Amino acid sequence: MNNIFKFAAGVFATLSFAWLSFVVGAGIQYGDLSPEAEREEEDGSRPKDADLYPVPLLGLAQQGAKEYLSLGCMTCHTQQVRLSYEKGPKNEPKYIPSFDVERGWGDRPSMPRDYVLQEHVMLGNTRIGPDLANLGMREHKDDWIHQHIFEPQSLIPESVCPPSPFLYEQSDSAAEGSIKIYSSDTNQTRHVIPSSRAKRLVSYLQSLKQDYELPEMSFFEREEDTEGGEVAEASETVPVSPRVLLAQQIDSGEKVYTTLGAGGGLCISCHQASGLGVPGAFPPLAGSDWVLGDKERLIKISMYGLMGEIEVNGIKYNGVMTAPGVPSGSLTDDQIADVLTYIRNNWGNSASAVSASEVATVREAIKDRPITSMWTSAELQASSTQQSVEDISPAQ
Ligand code: HEC
Ligand code: HEC
Repeated sequence: MNNIFKFAAGVFATLSFAWLSFVVGAGIQYGDLSPEAEREEEDGSRPKDADLYPVPLLGLAQQGAKEYLSLGCMTCHTQQVRLSYEKGPKNEPKYIPSFDVERGWGDRPSMPRDYVLQEHVMLGNTRIGPDLANLGMREHKDDWIHQHIFEPQSLIPESVCPPSPFLYEQSDSAAEGSIKIYSSDTNQTRHVIPSSRAKRLVSYLQSLKQDYELPEMSFFEREEDTEGGEVAEASETVPVSPRVLLAQQIDSGEKVYTTLGAGGGLCISCHQASGLGVPGAFPPLAGSDWVLGDKERLIKISMYGLMGEIEVNGIKYNGVMTAPGVPSGSLTDDQIADVLTYIRNNWGNSASAVSASEVATVREAIKDRPITSMWTSAELQASSTQQSVEDISPAQ
């Protein structure tokens, strides 16, 4: 009978440990965060009667947050610009612009303080669609967002964002407050009138912006901001946005990943559709430092394969991956760039895109290597030049 007490004590200890670390621990770390002023003064002090950020949601926008929650938008959209850091000379973390910042999802990473006034914090953890933490800064017109909610496919034909026509009243002719929607594939013009639910939702979406600096995090300069004026102008005339290009690359990368026949990469047969591999045989690509880290190493593996002992997510593997492709080693620069961009941005991974020219550079540097000679982990570790960059997500 003595055991029942040990058992009860064990249960108590386990639960109280969990409570201490998740409730009390988080409370100590974040519990007393409150809105703060932007630090404009030289000495870092808070200027008198400065505006405090974040600002509370008001009126329509506040009600819209509930619509967003109840419609389940969070299942595919996150609201957090991720933080990246690399190790500085003394092993201290040094914040660097994350890929999220590079692709224009925000001017800085999100911080816990950004969420302190929110009734429901809707961070999300799956990114089927783009991050919305700064949707309000993308300067979409209200009508565009309404059309996107009504029928995303009328704007982006292959979009998987679900349409919500039940939030709109449809009519055949223009009426007061109606929005004209033209779908080019069906050559159809419709007029829709937003319901009050739709208006609340749009007001909420437009309010999403982390456009202020916090004492703990300032804006990052994006690459295009620092380049010469001419380059910036030239890029304005290019109609495709980086986001669209990235989506295209991920799309074709998925084909390489899943195609089993000639020209395909076969990756799916070993690393699986889940990216989790097969325990004991094929290592996971989801959450792997090999995938999220140094690009050069990844490119080399995709050209020549890999063998010998390696450690992925703390587990050792000792397998053989011959040069991928059918025939072996036949993947082109574009295919490698696309498939790597895909694996770096799927299954919750988030890291910068790989370009065909980066692949070409690596290929040129190792062109004398025979195609049958797979890399070993030791060889790659030794030749790796770039510092590895870890993406960390505040949600995890
Ligand atoms: C099944 C996953 C999924 C769900 C659920 C979902 N979305 Fe999306 N969303 C996407 C994808 C994928 C895209 C990118 C393609 C596009 O723009 O349509 C997207 C794009 C968007 C965009 C355009 C962002 C931009 O800057 O271009 C908005 C706005 C948006 N979604 C709002 C919503 C809202 C509001 C909800 C809830 C009613 C929602 N989404 C639910 C997948 C989803
Ligand atoms: C025949 C099965 C097989 C195929 C096909 C395959 N791999 Fe692998 N892959 C492996 C094995 C086995 C390892 C581990 C090798 C070792 O133990 O040294 C590995 C390791 C890796 C690694 C490094 C470790 C990790 O999990 O992050 C990456 C990255 C990778 N593969 C990507 C790919 C990509 C991309 C493709 C398709 C272009 C692909 N693999 C096709 C079996 C395969």
